[in-house]
Amino acid sequence: MREFSEDYLHRTRRGMWDDSRDALEPLELASHERVLDVGCGTGELSRVLADDSPGEVIGCDVDLELLSIARERVPVVASDARRLPFSADAVDLVVCQALLINLPDPAAALEEFARVSSDLVAAVEPNNAAVAVDSSVDAENDLERRARTAYLDGVETDVALGSDASETFEAAGIDVLETRRYDHVRTIEPPYSDHALIAARRKATGAGLADDRETMLSGELTEAEYDELRSAWREMGRTAIEQMESGEYRRTEAVPFFVTVGRV
Ligand SMILES: C[S@@+](CC[C@H](N)C(=O)[O-])C[C@H]1O[C@@H](n2cnc3c(N)ncnc32)[C@H](O)[C@@H]1O
Repeated sequence: MREFSEDYLHRTRRGMWDDSRDALEPLELASHERVLDVGCGTGELSRVLADDSPGEVIGCDVDLELLSIARERVPVVASDARRLPFSADAVDLVVCQALLINLPDPAAALEEFARVSSDLVAAVEPNNAAVAVDSSVDAENDLERRARTAYLDGVETDVALGSDASETFEAAGIDVLETRRYDHVRTIEPPYSDHALIAARRKATGAGLADDRETMLSGELTEAEYDELRSAWREMGRTAIEQMESGEYRRTEAVPFFVTVGRV
């Protein structure tokens, strides 16, 4: 199972759903009384659900460390998504965000969601193959694309699931009502936040790329190609830091998320 740090989730979810919640409308949050957020991590989505639902929102995850953060936002339960500790129809809405892309058999999890929900099941899943990066460091655009291609090639689950989640819903016997798109756009520009400074430093040291080394090497990428990529990556990080020092650095990243909603 892929593990996620508190820092990674805070960094990658920063500002998510703050600009628009239109894509969450089909979840009908105002009219659901018991909402379960499976694979809640630190509770980034649970917080949004709790804001917009008058009912109870419960977070659920296998990672106890992440759950201890989510607990500050909503009540939580430790459990595997495929064996939820709830009776049939115990809640009226089950939601997950960026969970299915990490599971070897996402349809099995959706079947379990359909068992515990009396009404709706929803999944918010990114298409990581369609992430768009636009940086003032020219080399960054190409290097991000190369690193992403190598990662997608080595990863075992479908991290580009996105709108195809609707097919997984149908395979799990859930009727799809609607799929909506939400682009999570994160911009780095002056004045630079601590998160932006840390991200640039992680590029210059190669730490960010090193996290995905094993996955990349599981695909077509050779050790020599990885080393070459890492050295170009670190140089790109140093240029980003130089541009930050003169206030020139700008970077925009858009991750397309797809909200699929089905009725059980
Ligand atoms: C990419 S994170 C997403 C976290 C959160 N939903 C968000 O969007 O910020 C995936 C989460 O799924 C959890 N997870 C992975 N496999 C799981 C499983 N089989 N059952 C429950 N949770 C799981 C991980 O621990 C992690 O917290």
